[in-house]
Amino acid sequence: MLLKEGIDKETLSKYLEEYFDTYNDYLPNIYKSVYQMNYLSGLYDQYVDSTICQFYKEYNLLKEEADMYNAFVNIIKHKHPDLSDKTILDVGSGFLPQLGRELAKYSKHVISIDKNVIDYNNPSNLEVIKKDVISYKDLPDADIIVGLLPCEATPYIIDKSCDIGSDFIIALCTCIHDPKLQDQLRRREITRLQAMDQMTKNNIYYAYNKVHENNMGELVEYESPYNFPSKVIGNRR
Ligand SMILES: C[S@@+](CC[C@H](N)C(=O)[O-])C[C@H]1O[C@@H](n2cnc3c(N)ncnc32)[C@H](O)[C@@H]1O
Repeated sequence: MLLKEGIDKETLSKYLEEYFDTYNDYLPNIYKSVYQMNYLSGLYDQYVDSTICQFYKEYNLLKEEADMYNAFVNIIKHKHPDLSDKTILDVGSGFLPQLGRELAKYSKHVISIDKNVIDYNNPSNLEVIKKDVISYKDLPDADIIVGLLPCEATPYIIDKSCDIGSDFIIALCTCIHDPKLQDQLRRREITRLQAMDQMTKNNIYYAYNKVHENNMGELVEYESPYNFPSKVIGNRR
């Protein structure tokens, strides 16, 4: 169960209405359908994707143990206890940059970048860049670079960090965005679980090599009581 006690279907329906009202000018129809389908199917209190989590986070509906934004901020703060003078770049921030909004409470300046991010209702120290990132060179400089389930933007975070020597922390997603694995999956040569596992291994292998080649310390895996879909990795000097 993801939601705090007392958040029943009726209560949720009111929040959904408020959400659609507030973000009416920004919400793509496809997102509205995802929200409605999830709600109508009754699966709203079980597994949800990031888009739905962003809505829950908006109204503080998530139980502490189901709040991946707080969990990820805790990992970042554990590694960098004082963020007050840091600029943090959040890559693949999502439509509502909930991680960026949370990080903006502790840091001087946060930049959230995503092809779908909106510049609305955000704190003044959160800058958003709406961009389809196709190279690490598209990313601005920052003291720390993070990504919460950043899908195919994952290697760009690693490349940018290595290029400018900034620390990175990534909660890896399990999306299969490698064309070779997608092809194997389509041909049924591997199962979805095997493809997801291989994707994680590929990301870790890539990060490991880059960290070592660029003298960024060691590649480490972070522990969290929150059950992220995959590993949370970063460099440690
Ligand atoms: C699984 S969602 C995670 C969103 C957000 N971090 C969260 O957890 O709520 C992945 C996000 O990465 C973004 N993304 C993936 N590849 C990207 C790219 N190349 N350029 C810009 N955004 C990208 C997608 O638009 C999507 O919003």
